[in-house]
Amino acid sequence: MIYEGKAITVKEIEGGFAQLDFDLKGESVNKFNQLTIEELGEAAEKLQKAKKVKGLVVTSSKDTFIVGADITEFTDLFAGPEEELVNNNLKANRIFSSIEDLPFPTVTAINGQALGGGFEMCLSTDFRVMDQKAKVGLPEVKLGIFPGFGGTVRLSRLIGADNAIEWICMGSEHRADKALKFNAVDAVVGNDQLVDAAIDMLKEANAGKLDYKARREEKTGKLKLNSMESMMVFETSKGYVAGQSGPNYPSPVEAVKVMQKHAGMTRDKAIEVEANGFAKMAKTGTASSLVQIFLNDQDLKKKGKDYEKQANQVKMAAVLGAGIMGGGIAFQSASKGTPILMKDINRDGITAGLEEAKKLLTKRVDKGKMNAGQMGDVLNNIHPTLNYGDFGDVDLVVEAVVENPKVKDAVLRETEDVIGEDKILTSNTSTISIDRLAKNLKRPENFCGMHFFNPVHMMPLVEVIRGKKTSDKAVATTVAYARAMGKSPIVVNDCPGFLVNRILFPYFGGFARLVRDGADFQKVDKIMEKFGWPMGPAYLLDVVGMDTAKHANEVMAEGFPDRMKDEHKSAIDVMFENDRLGQKSDKGFYQYQLDKKGKQQKVVDESSYGLLKPVVHNSQEFTDEQIIERMMIPLCIETVRCLEDNIVGTAAEADMGLVYGIGFPPFRGGALRYIDDIGLDEFCKMADKYKDLGPLYHPTDGMREMAKSGKKFHG
Ligand SMILES: NC(=O)c1ccc[n+]([C@@H]2O[C@H](COP(=O)([O-])OP(=O)(O)OC[C@H]3O[C@@H](n4cnc5c(N)ncnc54)[C@H](O)[C@@H]3O)[C@@H](O)[C@H]2O)c1
Repeated sequence: MIYEGKAITVKEIEGGFAQLDFDLKGESVNKFNQLTIEELGEAAEKLQKAKKVKGLVVTSSKDTFIVGADITEFTDLFAGPEEELVNNNLKANRIFSSIEDLPFPTVTAINGQALGGGFEMCLSTDFRVMDQKAKVGLPEVKLGIFPGFGGTVRLSRLIGADNAIEWICMGSEHRADKALKFNAVDAVVGNDQLVDAAIDMLKEANAGKLDYKARREEKTGKLKLNSMESMMVFETSKGYVAGQSGPNYPSPVEAVKVMQKHAGMTRDKAIEVEANGFAKMAKTGTASSLVQIFLNDQDLKKKGKDYEKQANQVKMAAVLGAGIMGGGIAFQSASKGTPILMKDINRDGITAGLEEAKKLLTKRVDKGKMNAGQMGDVLNNIHPTLNYGDFGDVDLVVEAVVENPKVKDAVLRETEDVIGEDKILTSNTSTISIDRLAKNLKRPENFCGMHFFNPVHMMPLVEVIRGKKTSDKAVATTVAYARAMGKSPIVVNDCPGFLVNRILFPYFGGFARLVRDGADFQKVDKIMEKFGWPMGPAYLLDVVGMDTAKHANEVMAEGFPDRMKDEHKSAIDVMFENDRLGQKSDKGFYQYQLDKKGKQQKVVDESSYGLLKPVVHNSQEFTDEQIIERMMIPLCIETVRCLEDNIVGTAAEADMGLVYGIGFPPFRGGALRYIDDIGLDEFCKMADKYKDLGPLYHPTDGMREMAKSGKKFHG
């Protein structure tokens, strides 16, 4: 044994070679935590001194190679001064470089996934052999940073600057065939031949058939581009990458700049440039928020897995109503492998539901993500029906009929009579209280809300709403089914609007007050989009539909009259009264026209301003900052209320609900994280400037207490 640690062992193997194996004790996967990096340094030192070793093969004993850095360490790490971060990276890089400089050929045998630091480890050896099922990639930009263990240096020299820019700035994972084509790996074999193939490469290198020294020089030298080519590649990429990522996500563009800057440098100098750029990105609010979101998501997954342990299995599901939502739910369930009955009262509904599923599947086939056979399998998993005949075999039902309490009551009662006594019944209602719907049921303990977002196949969130009588089993089974559908469920307690709509409508309240006081709705949209929302509030209302929004608004006003009831007629009311329902009627705040590709395009409609005149009472001028504050304060305060009222269990879940349910700008981390960043004290002062706008703008007592004691929602 040459080295034995808790994450790494190095031993001699046949033929005079050594094997460095990653196998992090007590963990299901290998990751680059501080311990692993330190051990890699120690192992490299031993290897440098191991006189008899003729070559090194790097392996993993886990199912996967190395999934990346240990992101749980990032929050503390990134909180330190920038200089410390630079030094930290340089220290780690000296270790990777010492592997690269070993006095014999080196090869990595890549199994499973080699991502981030895991792939950078592979890049530090001379050669790479990859299992045909493995994947490699540098996904760091998804956390607001870019590769910091030499990835920008080695990959650009290995696969060319243009390809490295694509790999690093997109952050995608790449399959073995693609990695081979791009020269990122040298061979692809079956898993059982992986180590043998790696050892063969070492033998060939020692026999002079593979020039490992030339390969090393290529990776440690300057990038082989003349200044003209270099300008072309980097300057054009910068513009393109900036357009793709947008100003709120600076790390992809910074990665291009870093690669451009170190193009003419040899390895050690180039790595200094990378380390400085990395530290700069690690210190951005974007990185900090995206890391927080990653950790929140891990938290959600862990909670989901705990629920799964208590859940009943859902082998067959059913959805009632084959409309927009029912069709989407059937599609999602079937495409993730749970067969589903899709019941409607009319044949046209069913035909429309199936057509929608076919359309989505055809798109996937066209994009090469699925073949015709798989498409057939999914369609065969959707069983359309006009009656309850097969409901005896169903484990869980999602009711998604029209939003009418009487119809829902009748449908839920009928369904309860035809399903097994221990089977779970759920409703996708957006506005009706779960306790109210449970009242007419014989087994309210088996009932809860299962609130999907539109379009179902795109939106990751499902709110699982626990009523007063809902059993743990019903919640657990619904969570497990949502996860089986590939969704991120969040369990919340019952209240008007549940979690997400309860928070969204105060934001629309902010919008209505801005229009009332003279703000131009287009300007509000532009500013909120620049702030990071996928669409501004007027556009979002057009997408939601004015009828739906008006109805939900009324439900909220009834539920929370103190702050959500507005005596004035609002912009939403005006649009509704004028049959401008939004996208569904081709007109709302904006007009919608089909473009050449048949996609709905938003165009400005000046007549909206005339219609809005009766609800515009003032003619105030607003700065961008005032618009942002007036929009965001009600949303943020309502999020706090949901936490204080125990509608949602944790700050992490509240923030993730907003990111996954309504596209809250991820680089801001969620509403509570946004308050934390401003500071509670500062936030309360900001809200106090608008206290005359009413209780939607009044911080809670709890917030003022937290402000006094300097508390935060996260950490
Ligand atoms: N559309 C959204 O954005 C959205 C989002 C979240 C939740 N929801 C909720 O989902 C539910 C359905 O909304 P939608 O937009 O899909 O409506 P929809 O009008 O598109 O579809 C409703 C379907 O239910 C069918 N139906 C009516 N009575 C029925 C019965 N007794 N048995 C079986 N089917 C019956 C109708 O024929 C129709 O096909 C509503 O409760 C709504 O509030 C909608």
